[in-house]
Amino acid sequence: MPNRRPLHRQRDHVLYVEGGRPLVGRVCISGSKNASLPVMAASLLTAEPVRLSNVPEVADTDLMRDIIHTLGGRTRALSDGSMSIVARELKSQVPEHLGRRMRASIVLLGALLARTGSARLPKPGGDEIGARRVEQHIRGLRAMGADIHETRSDFVARARRLIGARVVFDLPTVTGTENIILAAVLAEGRTEIFNAAREPHVQDLARFLVKMGAQIHGIGTDELVIEGVPRLHGAEHRIIPDYLEAGTYAIAAAATGGEVLLECSPPEDLRQVLLKLDQAGVEIEIGEGEFAVRRHRRSALRPVDMGTWVHPGFPTDLQAQYLALMTQADGESVISEYLFENRYQHVPELMRMGARVKVEGRTCFVHGPSALSGTDVMVPDIRSGAALVIAALCARGVTELHHAWHVDRGYQDLVGKLSALGARLERRKPLRRVGTPTTDRSYE
Ligand code: EPU
Repeated sequence: MPNRRPLHRQRDHVLYVEGGRPLVGRVCISGSKNASLPVMAASLLTAEPVRLSNVPEVADTDLMRDIIHTLGGRTRALSDGSMSIVARELKSQVPEHLGRRMRASIVLLGALLARTGSARLPKPGGDEIGARRVEQHIRGLRAMGADIHETRSDFVARARRLIGARVVFDLPTVTGTENIILAAVLAEGRTEIFNAAREPHVQDLARFLVKMGAQIHGIGTDELVIEGVPRLHGAEHRIIPDYLEAGTYAIAAAATGGEVLLECSPPEDLRQVLLKLDQAGVEIEIGEGEFAVRRHRRSALRPVDMGTWVHPGFPTDLQAQYLALMTQADGESVISEYLFENRYQHVPELMRMGARVKVEGRTCFVHGPSALSGTDVMVPDIRSGAALVIAALCARGVTELHHAWHVDRGYQDLVGKLSALGARLERRKPLRRVGTPTTDRSYE
């Protein structure tokens, strides 16, 4: 892997997208960000080397690597593109300046408690997409015997030994489930998790831990039973493909009236999304570990209502992109966001481009089709950024996306991949200062 400036430090670039060209060709989907982060945390549960392949080169995995280094672990990029992680000895304090940049660093709470018996890390606050509380993580870990107290800025946790417990989630939480799994695999006795999240990335974490010697039953269901073991060993693992990246490209292909083959991307995890695209009049062809998406530019898109839900429902992480698509549909669609109370940050920006959308609480009414035009927009978070890129690809003229670094947090080589599909876009420092209405929302 070539040396490169870590993506999470390239915050000053603007993404310029010239719209009006259909995406055509093939794209290889990278490994899943949301699987890589907890799997990297799980690698700290053993002193033996772990080897991970298909870890995406995105800002969030760069940041997790930096955090592992400051904890005393070592990571190495191997010549075949995989990553090795060795954590012979570990500190238990996640530095504030790194932990605060990424909410997913919360999964280190369970991992550090299990490995070192203590953990100190910055408290994730609310953010742009909602309150995003973590009280269920804390309640579950306390039930396992952890003593956790909160300072103004940090969680400080200690557990001389973790003991298996029954953890019942009110709502299936992804990183909450991951935290309890990470703590339970080395705990004494049996842990049962009810109403567990079963997103593909939660399953990938569990499968990796089984390779390390953990005993986890019920993977893929909402009831997990974990029998603690005294130690885990090193393992090799290939991270699953990122179904959220695949869904984003599929929607982009449909929105631009293009034809794209999504390689290295099993369609099974995207069933709900592909169903909606099919209902909207998009052609989907399913292959072995890949699928194709096609829409003739002149064939109208039908408006199709959608509500987000936990897996296997329509993923909230594709809601913004789907909403961008519906701005091109012929009529009104109703989109509801049931998981996060405030995940419509993309809407005002899409409206600046000409979209007609009305937000009422958790529901949006989208009136299509809208002729979008390029303008300055501000990227509020990863998925909104992906939605704005899709809108920009459909728009007349050039769209300038400020704070585009958000997109780098979850999409490997977005510019390269879209360029190969015929899009015109580039990412660079702005030539002039632009007075976009921004605040730096650097905490996700
Ligand atoms: N919630 C609580 N209390 C808790 C935990 C969660 O009220 O203790 C609520 C949250 O406020 C939210 C809902 O439950 O309303 C679901 O939150 P969840 O905990 O499942 O979200 P998360 O674990 O913080 C992960 C992903 C997100 C994705 C959500 C939902 C990772 C690293 N992050 O977040 O991904 O949107 O699950 O699927 O896996 C992204 O990739 O862009 C992203 C934001």
